[in-house]
Amino acid sequence: MTYNLLKGKKGIIFGALNDMSIAWKVAEKAHEEGARFVLTNTPVAMRLGTVDELAQKCNAQIIPADATSVEDLENLVVKSMEIFGGKIDFILHSIGMSPNVRKGLSYDNLNYDFYQKTLDISALSFHKVLLVCRKLDAISEWGSVVALSYVAAQRTLYGYNDMADAKSLLESIARSFGYIYGRDKKIRINTISQSPTLTTAGSGVKGMDKLLDFSERMSPLGNASAEDCAGYCVTLFSDLTRKVTMQNLFHDGGFSSMGMSLKAMTQYDKSFRDDDLEGD
Ligand SMILES: NC(=O)c1ccc[n+]([C@@H]2O[C@H](COP(=O)([O-])OP(=O)(O)OC[C@H]3O[C@@H](n4cnc5c(N)ncnc54)[C@H](O)[C@@H]3O)[C@@H](O)[C@H]2O)c1
Repeated sequence: MTYNLLKGKKGIIFGALNDMSIAWKVAEKAHEEGARFVLTNTPVAMRLGTVDELAQKCNAQIIPADATSVEDLENLVVKSMEIFGGKIDFILHSIGMSPNVRKGLSYDNLNYDFYQKTLDISALSFHKVLLVCRKLDAISEWGSVVALSYVAAQRTLYGYNDMADAKSLLESIARSFGYIYGRDKKIRINTISQSPTLTTAGSGVKGMDKLLDFSERMSPLGNASAEDCAGYCVTLFSDLTRKVTMQNLFHDGGFSSMGMSLKAMTQYDKSFRDDDLEGD
């Protein structure tokens, strides 16, 4: 079912790598809802991924940009405004990467150059996008900017590593810039804290299969899929959520409010029984 929620709206979508990417699903949904947008990712991701296919499907142009480079971002925003013949209404920041996670370095044995890269790619890039847009006065009044986060920003989850720190910073940037941009331009900035999702970035998280199972059992509504997330993003880009800003919005089937569920307790109980059997 489509509602034309984004009819006439123009946007920039960061982070579609392949058809598992959350940004890919957001692009498909935004297209269905009538939006026009530019797709962007790093030149490497363009080569390794399949974003061309998405661009064709959504009738979108691709402008490569490394989101840690202010120069690349300026080029992206200027060119996007040329394509649209005006300002941008929405932006999705769907970017995350930790070299420490990639190299298997644990939180108590981090490489600090990698740590800075994690923060730059996964959090500061959001500040850079917002600052570049502000300097170029690129976002329309009542425009909407969304970045994707994870509950590890608030709670410690084994194996999420320095990405937890990056997500805390990302959410803080949404609040700090949300105030300034809201006050001056009526532009809203939020983060969506998404369930674990099987994507290229997601599969880098230690023990992802177990984490998916655990959060599925813990969440009364079950894990939110990438498609579900796309639906939520579209509502935030639409005019129906004009007074929502500076929020970290949990989109996780209820996980973040749970302590223990029947399904998780049952599984936990089983493991004790297995332990007993092993002891026999
Ligand atoms: N998958 C999950 O379990 C999950 C859960 C909550 C939040 N998130 C967040 O969702 C977002 C999207 O991740 P995903 O799960 O769709 O995985 P993904 O691997 O499909 O997307 C990550 C994207 O970041 C891009 N990227 C990396 N470095 C970049 C740079 N320097 N400049 C521009 N782009 C760069 C990659 O090319 C890729 O397209 C990330 O912020 C991630 O942390 C993911």
